[in-house]
Amino acid sequence: MRIDIISIFPEMFDGPFNHSIVKRAKEKGLVEIVIHNLREYSENKHKNVDDYAFGGGAGMVMMIQPIDKCVTQLKSEREYDEIIYLSPDGELFNQGLANSFIEYNNIILLCGHYKGIDERIRKHIITREISIGDYVLSGGELAAAVFTDSIVRLIPGVLGDETSALSDSFQDGLISPPVFTRPREYKSWKVPDILLSGNDKLIQKWKLEESIERTKKKRPDLYNKD
Ligand code: ADE
Repeated sequence: MRIDIISIFPEMFDGPFNHSIVKRAKEKGLVEIVIHNLREYSENKHKNVDDYAFGGGAGMVMMIQPIDKCVTQLKSEREYDEIIYLSPDGELFNQGLANSFIEYNNIILLCGHYKGIDERIRKHIITREISIGDYVLSGGELAAAVFTDSIVRLIPGVLGDETSALSDSFQDGLISPPVFTRPREYKSWKVPDILLSGNDKLIQKWKLEESIERTKKKRPDLYNKD
């Protein structure tokens, strides 16, 4: 899978994509993440990427020209499954949506800033709009990093244990059961006996019951969904 990210702050991705699972996925050649500095596509002599909003109103608006130039160039090189604009008014992201992207080969992510992007970009260039939650971030970079991380870990071969993404919270509509490690007892806080019993059938049953109980308690909205 290839993910192209268009941003005015490319350095913001140095952290999230150069550690842990995403870093390993890149090294294994399972994902290619290419960051494009939008300013480099500006034909304006000051390399501007934004301008005043027609009709007034506070805040600047991201201009069509640099975004169109960048996207057009990328599209001339390969076919894209989706050109996604990260925006707080987009479709709400969740695990189901993340799962639906793993079949894709090439995706473009556009990170917005200021008051938003010229509406004509949304109408003519963007194919999908995604929000990572009902709150407003300063820009789309953190949202793009969240989106990318959640998809990359689903790509077959990225996680050491193939089943681990499937046992994540939300994959079956339930929150994961509690986990414990050594020591068996710490300050008199004990690991549940069942997990030390060696009886796998009973352990699996206990885990499922815990998942159900946790989901009912912490996320009743998920539990009552269907
Ligand atoms: N840009 C700003 N806020 C955002 C959000 N909540 N989701 C996606 N992109 C955003």
